[in-house]
Amino acid sequence: MKIIVSQTHEDSCKKAAVMFRELLREKPTAKLGLATGGTPLPLYAELARMNKAGEVDFSRACSVNLDEYCGLAPTHDQSYRYFMDTNLFNHINIDKSHTFVASGTKPPEEAAAELEEKVYEGGAPDLQLLGIGANGHIAFNEPATALVAESHPAPLTESTIDANARFFATRADVPSLSVTMGMKGILSAAKIIMLAEGKGKKEAIEGLVKGGSITTQNPSTFLKLHRDVTVFIDKELADAVGVK
Ligand code: PGA
Repeated sequence: MKIIVSQTHEDSCKKAAVMFRELLREKPTAKLGLATGGTPLPLYAELARMNKAGEVDFSRACSVNLDEYCGLAPTHDQSYRYFMDTNLFNHINIDKSHTFVASGTKPPEEAAAELEEKVYEGGAPDLQLLGIGANGHIAFNEPATALVAESHPAPLTESTIDANARFFATRADVPSLSVTMGMKGILSAAKIIMLAEGKGKKEAIEGLVKGGSITTQNPSTFLKLHRDVTVFIDKELADAVGVK
């Protein structure tokens, strides 16, 4: 696992954007595994800038997203489809019909089966982007006594509902169920990039980067089983964890 410490999160995102650019130059038809949340926003802004400047071309790329809230239509401003359109897809030259975000309105089992198919359609993602929850979740694979390999409907933990409430009018508006890629789909990607910012992620990142065991209580620790993971963290988080 490579750990790259940057002075600021924006710097981390610029470095991560270069990895996307290099991949797309090498393989214009690359399949990108994408993520939502506050963390990737500066990365998406940088990719949009690069695309506008002619530094990277998404016209032949495709994508699959990690997860979606159950109960939110794609037009809902907190759905992950809406997030991806407004924060990335509307600003780059990707063919939107080649982007996939799981359905938030189909029956959850059906939406999960569809997502599972899309993860592997034409091959697993060449590059999977991940954020991390303060509790160590990746996508909506929450800490538990057991994790699920395939895409599945997944309840959000109370702490994740708390964390995501900042995006909704009230906490009660945060959906309690999601459809998420499972651990196998995430680990199937050829390359994985993890972005994490701020000391709030200390415990989760400690579990991932500081040795110790793989545990279902910190799902991110399963990334230790993958041979090509790059973790970008900002200085504040690096100092909190004690890595250089
Ligand atoms: P955040 O979420 O980027 O909004 O902190 C990360 C995650 O929950 O995976």
